[in-house]
Amino acid sequence: MDEPRFPDGFVWGVASSAFQVEGALEEDGRGVSVWDAFTRRPGVIRDGHTADVACDHYHRYGEDIALLAELGVDVYRFSIAWPRVVPAGAGAVNPRGLDFYERLVDGLLERGITPLPTLFHWDLPQALEDAGGWLERDTAHRFAEYVSAVAVRLGDRVGAWITLNEPFEHMSLGYALGEHAPGRTLLLDALPAAHHQLLGHGLAARLLREEHGAKVLLTNSYSPARPARDTPADRGAADAYDALHRRLFTDPVLLGRYPDLSAYGLAAGALPYVRDGDLAVISAPLDGLGVNYYNPTLLAAPPAGSPLPFDFAEFPPGVPRTAFGWPVVPDGLTQTLVELTELYGEALPPLWITENGCSCDAYVEDGDRVAYLDAHVRAVHAAIERGADVRGYLVWTLTDNFEWAEGYHQRFGLVHVDHETQKRTPRASFTWYRDLIAAQRRPR
Ligand code: NOJ
Repeated sequence: MDEPRFPDGFVWGVASSAFQVEGALEEDGRGVSVWDAFTRRPGVIRDGHTADVACDHYHRYGEDIALLAELGVDVYRFSIAWPRVVPAGAGAVNPRGLDFYERLVDGLLERGITPLPTLFHWDLPQALEDAGGWLERDTAHRFAEYVSAVAVRLGDRVGAWITLNEPFEHMSLGYALGEHAPGRTLLLDALPAAHHQLLGHGLAARLLREEHGAKVLLTNSYSPARPARDTPADRGAADAYDALHRRLFTDPVLLGRYPDLSAYGLAAGALPYVRDGDLAVISAPLDGLGVNYYNPTLLAAPPAGSPLPFDFAEFPPGVPRTAFGWPVVPDGLTQTLVELTELYGEALPPLWITENGCSCDAYVEDGDRVAYLDAHVRAVHAAIERGADVRGYLVWTLTDNFEWAEGYHQRFGLVHVDHETQKRTPRASFTWYRDLIAAQRRPR
């Protein structure tokens, strides 16, 4: 099949996050994060892996920038570790933490790569978690202070920022289910962690735009909620999941109101921790919406007595799977982009695919990943043809890295990393992506 041709100026990139690649957890005054503490708990991370070294990116960032330059990307999305910048979560700023991100940003700019930092990718300072973490309103204000310190140092070189990464996953895996740090198992009592993250987003967005003239994005994960069977009960379950996963994290930001979760038995009436004026802050103007897409979610009616109004169902055996076992469904990405466009209309800012990729075990000949990426790039193109305003596509990720509770078992990299020696070996998918980017740049 012919290569799809993307609009002029379409942006190509890759994405990563601090805790997953940096290592050097105790260097240059970095404070402890919730993930440092969580990875030390026995039994929570597969094979007891830790991110103490990860990809040693803190020391090898120069080598990684050289790989990005070879790939030819326009933009590199990375995250800034709050505990490096404000080690205790509040109060004193650690200049040596900012020095590292300054070296990284300058190194990218020297190679003509636009830095796109994410300000929170799940590594909350442990001191804030000890005070209640994102369940507490105060954390939103501490987030804005940390963001201000980062912007004061880097705002002259960084023109666009992503405030939060996947607040739904942080709330659900971290506070509701306990599979991620901070490891709380509060089920629906985790909901304040949604509001306070969004409030932090709004406070940060306002100051980045008003005080630094910067562009601001928020990155959510989007996974179309599909009913397992075409029955009213399964359609209702899919609708309830959609309210919790998509609308809870998008409506307040774009429309200035929460979806009515009580309709799904998810929360009674008004959310008591939402104060007057919060939604005006949360719905601060946005320059782009980041979409992380991996696969759709299949929902069925819940069993009797379930605390949730839905149950997760399995995709049929014929659907291909990644090494992680995740279903490969590229048209779910087209669906997500078209649905966002239709649902939010004028209120929707331009869309950016801030993550897409797959886990694949192959050392170098990762044809499965090439097939996955190729199909998903085509799915983005199909969405553009159907009217979605998509401006960029970022692959997750450059190097194999610390995949949270899975440790180093899931390899999402265009570049293989030997975690014993830190040797980086570009894979077939690296060459494929490099060639795709070069082909898209050729004059037509
Ligand atoms: C989403 C997260 O943002 C990222 O940290 C993670 O590694 C990928 N998905 C793959 O699971």
